[in-house]
Amino acid sequence: MSLKNPFVISGYVSPYYFCDREEETKNLIRYVTNGRNVALISTRRMGKTGLIRHCFQSKEIRDRYHTFFIDIYSTGSLREFVFALGKEIFEELKPKGSKLLDQFFSVITSLRAGFRLNRDTGEPSFEMGLGDIREAGATLDEIFRYLEQAGKPCIIAIDEFQQIEHYAEPNVEAVLRSLIQKCKNTWFIFAGSQRHIMSGLFQSPARPFYQSVGMMQLGCISPDAYRNFVTMHFETNHREIDAAIIDKVYDKFDGHTWYLQIIFNELFSLTIPGDKCGLTMLDEALTNLISAQEFTCQEILSRLPEKQKEILIAIAKEGKAVGVTSADFVKKYNLQTPSSVQSAVRYLLEKDLVTQENNVFSVYDRFFGIWIKQNF
Ligand SMILES: Nc1ncnc2c1ncn2[C@@H]1O[C@H](COP(=O)(O)OP(=O)(O)O)[C@@H](O)[C@H]1O
Ligand SMILES: [Mg+2]
Repeated sequence: MSLKNPFVISGYVSPYYFCDREEETKNLIRYVTNGRNVALISTRRMGKTGLIRHCFQSKEIRDRYHTFFIDIYSTGSLREFVFALGKEIFEELKPKGSKLLDQFFSVITSLRAGFRLNRDTGEPSFEMGLGDIREAGATLDEIFRYLEQAGKPCIIAIDEFQQIEHYAEPNVEAVLRSLIQKCKNTWFIFAGSQRHIMSGLFQSPARPFYQSVGMMQLGCISPDAYRNFVTMHFETNHREIDAAIIDKVYDKFDGHTWYLQIIFNELFSLTIPGDKCGLTMLDEALTNLISAQEFTCQEILSRLPEKQKEILIAIAKEGKAVGVTSADFVKKYNLQTPSSVQSAVRYLLEKDLVTQENNVFSVYDRFFGIWIKQNF
């Protein structure tokens, strides 16, 4: 498959459109094929999902394992988790033939009621609502029993795993942990973007998942690898690009994958075949991208209480704000007291509007940050 624009901004397409991650790919494959479960952690949009998809399509994994991928960001209970997992397994097995599906429903009897075969086409479907799952725990037991004898070993990636902390039922962690611990043929990748919650889950001695996984932090793609990737795709498509612009974007956005991709997607689309993409086009690209988000930015800001708004603006102006509760910072931006700043910052962190790295605060969405800086 050949894309009109080689800079993919959502999902995973193929190795050709995927930049580097060679070490990470090797390590992740090595972990799970050697019976180790992995926690994969990075800030959002750094490339966890892409990396998992990339590993899943590799020859070592594709031919030897069943792979499943669920994103539990929007789930709020074990019941929803079980539903998402059951559905994903069904969807993965469906194209692989009716024998696998028969086997699936013969083990997972509690989901059988939702299984339908279209009378005309013979096409299988799974028509179950959340409400049809009576006993989440019992269905989960069945799903695990199935996975353990699915013919091939299984790898299950659970994206936004930190979400289980907010589940309605008590003891979800312990229930999952004890099921996972018993697996001999099923391996897990737990991906998550909230570092402090993920660390809490896997690195506190009192918690069920303590020391049960290899921890993998996903950092940036190296500037060299990314420069080569951009140059190659421009040249393959009969366009030139200044190396200086690649480095400038990389630095400005600290190598954060999604921002790089969307900016080069925009720059690529602005460059006519036969032409060269130069530094002057960067402003135009950024203006386009930020104005596309202007409405959302205004909406978010207008809904914030005044105190939080003031601090968000202060952090945006600072870029990387150090010691936001210090007297100096409070004075510089005419804020009230350090303690009121502290509570407002806590809300901003909870709403994912602000991110904290040690004692440094910045606006989570870079484009939002730039927009605030330009408008206030
Ligand atoms: N190695 C890569 N090369 C090119 N684009 C990538 C790469 N990794 C991720 N992306 C792109 O960056 C964006 C964010 O990646 P994603 O995997 O969804 O991040 P995360 O799961 O950490 O939030 C996606 O649009 C994806 O297409
Ligand atoms: Mg993801």
